[in-house]
Amino acid sequence: MNIDKIKNDPRLPKHMGIIIDGNGRWAKSRGLPRSAGHKAGSDNLKKQIEFLFDLGVKNLSLYCFSSENWKRPEQEVDYLMQLFDEMLDEYKKDYIDRDVKIIISGDLSDERLPINVRTKAKELIDITSGKTSNILNLCINYGGRQEILKAVSELAQSGEEINEKTFEKHLYTYGMLPLDFIIRTSGEKRSSNFLPWQATYSEWEYPKKCWPSFSKRDMIKAIKSFMSRNRRFGGLNKNEKKNNN
Ligand code: IPE
Ligand code: IPE
Ligand code: MG
Repeated sequence: MNIDKIKNDPRLPKHMGIIIDGNGRWAKSRGLPRSAGHKAGSDNLKKQIEFLFDLGVKNLSLYCFSSENWKRPEQEVDYLMQLFDEMLDEYKKDYIDRDVKIIISGDLSDERLPINVRTKAKELIDITSGKTSNILNLCINYGGRQEILKAVSELAQSGEEINEKTFEKHLYTYGMLPLDFIIRTSGEKRSSNFLPWQATYSEWEYPKKCWPSFSKRDMIKAIKSFMSRNRRFGGLNKNEKKNNN
């Protein structure tokens, strides 16, 4: 795997989203409880974040828990909350001395979230708020439709003119770079309420592997696919314009 060849390549995605999927199936296929899949998934997440920042990806948005995931059995939700609690402690240790700003997309005022998770999340946002090199966006209790409604109601209350720029100021992702590329593991091909406004011009990749077994090599393969694509944003590329007669 030749990482040096693409490290800091200008064609790398600047903002990448990951829909972490397949933790449960990974565990099931090994005869393990779903919780073991979530634990393995969170270990892989930590490795992949390090890897992607080191590669030169500036911003990351990670879908960890959707506003629809409350429908899962109580025992599974409780385990996920316990994992987030541990994750927030670990990330605090890991990122305190690094130039990474951590933000949370999702409703942190929701009382279904354990108080420890809410407090630790707010603390982490606070202590990293002045950092500038990278942004790590953890989507916890996040739903895209809910985010759009939140932005609409804040904008209506502010009395500001309504346009894309003023609207975006009220999204959780305000200040992040455009979302270039989204990976959803486990072969599912749907967005499940992930960043609908931000994803309008994102490129997508749906690798078959479940998240806990998605390796750095798999990540490179997906990124290389992104780098080879021809993005037009509704227009034409330079050489296409030249031959446009
Ligand atoms: C992703 O894995 C983790 C979360 C959604 C929290 P899943 O738990 O959705 O795993 P599958 O889709 O059941 O295999
Ligand atoms: C999407 O995965 C949510 C997260 C990755 C946090 P799900 O596994 O919950 O999505 P569906 O239910 O298959 O659409
Ligand atoms: Mg799933």
